Amino acid sequence: MESLKILYDDALVPKDQILKIAEEIKPEIERVREALSKGYEDDRASVNLLDDEEMLNTVKRTIEEKLRLEPKCLIVIGIGGSNLGTIAVQEAILGKLYNLSSPPMNVLYADTVDPNLIYSIMKIVEPVLRRDDNVLLNVVSKSGITTETVANFRILLDMLRKYKKDYKDYIVATCDRDSKLWNLAVKKGFAALEIPRKVGGRYSVFSPVGLFPLGLLGIHIRDLLNGARQMRNACIDMDLARNPAAIIASIQFAHYKNGKNISDFFFFSSDLESLGKWCRQLIAESLGKEFNRNGERVNVGITPTISIGSTDLHSVAQLYLGGPYDKLTTFVSIKDSRPPLHVPGMDEYSDLVQGIDGKSLKEILNAILEGTKEAFRKDKRPFIEISLPDKSEGSIGQFMQLKMIETMYLGHLLNVNPFDQPDVEKYKRETRRILAGEE
Ligand code: PA5
Repeated sequence: MESLKILYDDALVPKDQILKIAEEIKPEIERVREALSKGYEDDRASVNLLDDEEMLNTVKRTIEEKLRLEPKCLIVIGIGGSNLGTIAVQEAILGKLYNLSSPPMNVLYADTVDPNLIYSIMKIVEPVLRRDDNVLLNVVSKSGITTETVANFRILLDMLRKYKKDYKDYIVATCDRDSKLWNLAVKKGFAALEIPRKVGGRYSVFSPVGLFPLGLLGIHIRDLLNGARQMRNACIDMDLARNPAAIIASIQFAHYKNGKNISDFFFFSSDLESLGKWCRQLIAESLGKEFNRNGERVNVGITPTISIGSTDLHSVAQLYLGGPYDKLTTFVSIKDSRPPLHVPGMDEYSDLVQGIDGKSLKEILNAILEGTKEAFRKDKRPFIEISLPDKSEGSIGQFMQLKMIETMYLGHLLNVNPFDQPDVEKYKRETRRILAGEE
């Protein structure tokens, strides 16, 4: 499988400094290596998902079973780490406009409790049920008690029950074994897929959380895992100069120490926007911390932002090229972009913009990317480049695994726990208190 190409020439951190910081990561690389033999008992357990044949077979069996129902629509009910990875991979592989291309199965995501969103989903799905076609609900929640997920599940379950006597056959619950949701699924006879212990939401895309809905949609989940495995092996290399996660984490850390605490992901592909949202959660939730590992108040974090090329050049370029020097940019592009659409030669239109006659859209997009990089270079704005060979499962798997391990290494450099989210729990607790009518 062709590897991601990663270039650091314009990162504006000298190579010896990068390698010096990377040296500090070595103990954490050792811990990730050790985690490979600890099953799901270590915080870094997500690196073991890639080799879990039993889990993959269970997911595949469930997919085959549910495909026999010939579902016309899948609704994934989940939020945060429980759906961002799925949306990211689905849009990257199948395209943002997938549902509009009359696919055999549509996919909809019920995450927030915005009544307009859920009502719109119902308006799309009810006619399908009325025609006696089948709809699957995949309710995904590690804890099994997230307010939004449970509220949306109950509304959509209620709708399903009106149309399907055997409604239980159309529900798959993905959650922690022995959570309240798991126990309910067993009691009601829903299919239940287990999220392995110690695999947290934002590290769970390669668990049944992502694999079940993605496989159901026809995405090659084994290729996704193979890509991730290839990258994992590179990211645990003790030869630091060959370890992409250690190098990128070191560059990011060097800039963070110099006051550049914004990390902008500039994707030159519209279909990768949701991959950016997945990265945003991974970095924000893993690294934004009030206390360090010694219990000292530190209030650290890197603020991730997402930009889409060339769309957002018409939105943020002025700020990025004229504003404060507070960002490290990662340009992400795709080498092999199909289909090869060309601007047709048309004499009377040639004057509007010169130099595009007969050029492919990919050539034009590349020119814009090269132009943008040159402007960054001239302005001494640091950037890293990641070029994906293509928009395949293998490439996306590599990218996601790179970012997850890089985040673990950044957590180590910042001396924070990248696996917990104590402050998210604060608002969840308060919400539950308000909804329960407590003072
Ligand atoms: O990454 C995380 O841990 C969070 O974003 C959770 O995924 C999110 O809060 C949803 O939680 P749960 O999966 O328990 O419903």
